[in-house]
Amino acid sequence: MRILFIGDIVGKPGRELLRKGLRRLVDHYGVEFVIANVENAAAGFGITKDIGDTIVEWGVDVMTSGNHIWDKKEVLEYIPGEPRLLRPANYPAGVPGRGSYVAQSGDGRAVGVINVMGRVFMLNIDDPFQIVLREIEAMRNRTKIIVVDFHAEATSEKIAMGWHLDGKATLVVGTHTHVQTADERILPNGTAYLTDAGMTGPHDSIIGMEREPSLARFLNGMPSRFEPATGNPRLNGVIVDADDKTGRAVAVRRISYSEQELLDLQAGAAANLLTHTRVPALTLREPQGHPEHRRGASEPGGRVEG
Ligand code: FE2
Repeated sequence: MRILFIGDIVGKPGRELLRKGLRRLVDHYGVEFVIANVENAAAGFGITKDIGDTIVEWGVDVMTSGNHIWDKKEVLEYIPGEPRLLRPANYPAGVPGRGSYVAQSGDGRAVGVINVMGRVFMLNIDDPFQIVLREIEAMRNRTKIIVVDFHAEATSEKIAMGWHLDGKATLVVGTHTHVQTADERILPNGTAYLTDAGMTGPHDSIIGMEREPSLARFLNGMPSRFEPATGNPRLNGVIVDADDKTGRAVAVRRISYSEQELLDLQAGAAANLLTHTRVPALTLREPQGHPEHRRGASEPGGRVEG
């Protein structure tokens, strides 16, 4: 099972990248299941039903979120009826929506997705470390493949979650900082890990917002109104290959594409749509974190940052 996780989609620039690029990415890499963090998809703040429905239509199977999930009031009506839109599972009991979902890939294989949120420099909600184990236990007999989106600020808390779940999840990927980290690896017991998937949105910005008002807040300490930026949109994310029988990750690779690079993918992949044997090889990592890898060495169409 090849899974694509797309980092935080920010506003229209992020959505446009998804619209233009997702199908090409899926075809190019032979992706079989798509997850995306959508908490900033509606003008940088929250998600609406219209936008969520459109994102699903474009090919995202499950949507995750975080602290911005409640920014648009209408989500309170939307989230109870849309099991494919997750909010962090460690919100207190009684909060609308759900924090996990077992979905099906196109050919009927089960994929579990869990969303939890960190507490360091963030809202002091329920313990994500305990709740995530409970959620994994609850879906364990339905699926071996489990992806955890840990929406958190602190690198230390995210790395701790990676080790906490090593051998219990297929992929633990961080979101929220909007800056992609370069530490993808497969931990000793088979869990792929990346501290942050990065942002699908405008990169000539301050984590997605127009530079001037964001900078002004640091310069003069006064409140300013944040607007989503537009410049230099890039799609960031991570692809993981999972062993269907064990749920262990066997390969992990992070991606970062501009719109043009996504458009170029289509041409390069025209002859090998969804053919696993002919898509670019993923980086294979020894469980011990063997330093030898081939990332970026011989890809016909893909460009990998970092
Ligand atoms: Fe966030």
